[in-house]
Amino acid sequence: MARLAAVIYDLDGTLIDSRADLADSVNAMLARMDLPRIEDRLIHGFIGEGAERLIRRSLGSQEHRYPEAAPIWRAEYQKRLLHKTRLYPGVRELLAAPPELRAVLTNKPGGFARQILAGLGVAAAFREIAGGDEAARKPDPAGVLLVCERLGVRREEALLVGDSAVDLATARAAGISVCAVTWGLGDAAALASADYLCHNAAEVALLLKGLTMGIIAPKPVPEPLDSSASAGERPSARGAAGKERAVGETVRITAGGQELELPVVVGTEGERGIEIVNLRAKTGMMTLDPAFMNTASTESAITFLDGEKGILRYRGIPIEELGEKSSFTETAYLLIYGHLPNKDELHKWEQLLTRHSMIHEDMKRFFDGYPMTAHPMAILSAMITSLSSFYPYALNAKADEYRDITIARLIAKMPTIAAFSYKKSIGHPFVYPRNDLNYCANFLHEMFAVPAEAYQSDPVAVRALNLLLILHADHEQNCSTSTVRIVGSAQTNLFASISAGICALWGPLHGGANQEVVEMLTDIRKKGLSATEFIAQVKDKKSGARLMGFGHRVYKNFDPRAKIIKKACDEVLARMGIRDPMLDLAKELEEAALKDPYFIERKLYPNVDFYSGIIYRALGIPTGMFTVMFALGRLPGWIAHWKEMIEDPNTKIGRPRQIYTGARETHYVPIEKRA
Ligand SMILES: CC(C)(COP(=O)(O)OP(=O)(O)OC[C@H]1O[C@@H](n2cnc3c(N)ncnc32)[C@H](O)[C@@H]1OP(=O)(O)O)[C@@H](O)C(=O)NCCC(=O)NCCS
Repeated sequence: MARLAAVIYDLDGTLIDSRADLADSVNAMLARMDLPRIEDRLIHGFIGEGAERLIRRSLGSQEHRYPEAAPIWRAEYQKRLLHKTRLYPGVRELLAAPPELRAVLTNKPGGFARQILAGLGVAAAFREIAGGDEAARKPDPAGVLLVCERLGVRREEALLVGDSAVDLATARAAGISVCAVTWGLGDAAALASADYLCHNAAEVALLLKGLTMGIIAPKPVPEPLDSSASAGERPSARGAAGKERAVGETVRITAGGQELELPVVVGTEGERGIEIVNLRAKTGMMTLDPAFMNTASTESAITFLDGEKGILRYRGIPIEELGEKSSFTETAYLLIYGHLPNKDELHKWEQLLTRHSMIHEDMKRFFDGYPMTAHPMAILSAMITSLSSFYPYALNAKADEYRDITIARLIAKMPTIAAFSYKKSIGHPFVYPRNDLNYCANFLHEMFAVPAEAYQSDPVAVRALNLLLILHADHEQNCSTSTVRIVGSAQTNLFASISAGICALWGPLHGGANQEVVEMLTDIRKKGLSATEFIAQVKDKKSGARLMGFGHRVYKNFDPRAKIIKKACDEVLARMGIRDPMLDLAKELEEAALKDPYFIERKLYPNVDFYSGIIYRALGIPTGMFTVMFALGRLPGWIAHWKEMIEDPNTKIGRPRQIYTGARETHYVPIEKRA
């Protein structure tokens, strides 16, 4: 018998392009209920989840207040979605192919699938719509096998055609061959490991024909992951956050006398993590991983970092490209909203960031309370949390109607607050923001302009600042970002969560390092030490000295940002006509360290802080402000993570456990009886 008997299709991702129409329909429903619009890009892909779940997602925590939502949604759905949704190009032809080459729908409630297809006028093309409401839903391999059973197709004969890693992994777990299609919503890179890859529906048709006629040799059929698959007993990867995933690879451990099969979660770049959410419940044991050296605290779609290979990408785009081509404000949008803005979006975004840059006049008085010697990071963190007292409606972190404006306000006001804290420290009058300047030029103006004379920022300085801020904009789950996420997981408002991140960044092992680098260089010069003499000191553990700006928890190769900054350092100083002996010393230290076995063995390379301080000096930024500059750059990353966390309906409050090592039960001793 020919290998292929069934093509199992995914309805929403592969078959129909529903995004725009779905968004239209959801927003029409929200408008009829006088609720704010949801951005289109937040809505796509929900179609497969069914109307009721979509309603819940659209209304978020307010669901209980709108019992009338469901009928309105159904009416909108009938009116628009069923009739306006488009098939992807070529799918109609595929569906009209001879019966043995036709697609079979699965994984969706039968009634729902039928409704959509009837609305599109293509239902008749299907041999059968299998997997009705009672069928197991994805990502359960048993559901796929059930569909095969209904169709009278053996699993060896079936081929699943899908666009998502979850669907493909589900089929694999069931022992069914898979064909990934790249035109849907799935990530092409993640799908590349499928048995077959098709870029349009016509290619799928050819593949089916080729397999059926024996022109294309079938790939070996994968083994089901275990024999209980059809009984629906496979371990389901139900994340800490309660998300369901397809189960592929698993690991077995024996703990507390229990044999346990734990699912392996695979990221889009292939990183693998063992999911242990049920570990304690099933075995009574925990894991101990101080400093999270092996622990992924979350899944995140914002930044990819490979410390071994020296790769850093924001939303998939390499940092090198962003540094060369983007602006800080555009990069901030990318990180926070997940895509590069189009012209209109960028224009609106930059307008928001300009318009909201002033701070309330009453806040100006707060600065008077600080001594001249106050560290600007102390002022910055206090001022940012103080913003929440001026925008009380931002206090409800879950209320998404004010989220975007709160985000814009924060990014817009941060440079003003940072510059005011500097002005305070030198006793100069505050300089108000100017709406005719871009983000970076405005910041330099607020920092360096004085009422007594005109100020014109140097375009070289503006460009350099733009680059530095982009390079600092995000770095996945670092100390301050994890702080923001964990504080925010208690549903703490954005301002307060970011303020906590600022405090974490202040530490010398984190954002404080750029200041430490310049102080270290100053100290070496003051003591008249050569680079090799200082390196010798660093290697002597008793000296307690570290080569600041070297080493990184995750980069065990060149930090890609350090490479860009080193190059920029040379260019900026040359173009500004500055010769800084600190730069020469830094280069000598780098050269000496990189050929020294101590640094080679420990894989210690320059990090982002090694050269950034030298550029900041060239821009006239005082050492005490360096960490503030880091905070200014990191702000969009913190916000993106806070937003991702707060918008995930499965987020739970972060609360690690501990292994207690203190005294066992003992009793209170009155003071007169104590030794
Ligand atoms: C970033 C940093 C905190 C990472 O720390 P970590 O992942 O916990 O690594 P460790 O501190 O355990 O370092 C591993 C080894 O390298 C040594 N090491 C790390 N960074 C070093 C540095 N900058 N100078 C000298 N030795 C260093 C440690 O002493 C340790 O040596 P050992 O194995 O003999 O004990 C650390 O490299 C550091 O302190 N760097 C300087 C501060 C800095 O630039 N921070 C900015 C980061 S962007």
